[in-house]
Amino acid sequence: MPQKFPGPVNTSSAIRLALKSWPEVEDYLKSCKAIILPIGSTEQHGPTGAIGTDALTAEAVALEVGVQTGVLVAPAQVFGMAEHHLAFPGTMSLQPSTLLLVLNDLLLSLARNGFERLFVINGHGGNIATIKAAFAQTYLSARDKNFSVAKNLKCKLSNWFMVPEVYKEAAKLYGSKEGQHATPSEISLTLYLESSLLNKQRLLDDPVPAGPIYGADDFRKRYPDGRMGSDPYLAKPEHGKLLLSKAASALTKELSDFMEST
Ligand code: NI
Repeated sequence: MPQKFPGPVNTSSAIRLALKSWPEVEDYLKSCKAIILPIGSTEQHGPTGAIGTDALTAEAVALEVGVQTGVLVAPAQVFGMAEHHLAFPGTMSLQPSTLLLVLNDLLLSLARNGFERLFVINGHGGNIATIKAAFAQTYLSARDKNFSVAKNLKCKLSNWFMVPEVYKEAAKLYGSKEGQHATPSEISLTLYLESSLLNKQRLLDDPVPAGPIYGADDFRKRYPDGRMGSDPYLAKPEHGKLLLSKAASALTKELSDFMEST
């Protein structure tokens, strides 16, 4: 059934699933059957970027969309498919087959209790293929298990860093120095969220241009400091604030269309 936003709230504590009791969730489901799931990755982000960049940014965008709409936000799935980053210490990856099972279980848990619109906000390109596979698996599993929501269940993926408004702003701010990994736009967002990360910022040599990705050891050989064509030294907290607001407005619109669709 088409859904409407519950309405904006003042603080993210009002929409975090982790802070709700089960009767509150049951009550929420009487008027809204949508939920936002942030997913990121725990992986190297160049010599100056935080390991948690993709998880921190996806969660921040998800919480901002939650505040603007009143839609519940699940705890972030902070581990993603980062096999190609494993030659750098600090990286923690799930294999694609593991991530598929994890996402299937999490999406099915929500569907079992009546959530019908599952809106995944993703912060990591390496997760995209597996998230899409997990959606297909979830539709199949919900039907096989005869869940009452099976007929109405819809899952949608939105990658915050690929939103056209974010893309345009990043191109304006950084041009070709945006690159493809440890980008100044994602690093800007982390600097806005966590000011202690500013201490890591320093001028770096020119990056190796972005190119193909194969296995973990090959990645480290090709991109010795972990960056792919990016100059994260250009990142600024105020850029992060702007990019967060652009991503959140665009995804709020996407969520609205998704919830209203039949
Ligand atoms: Ni990233």
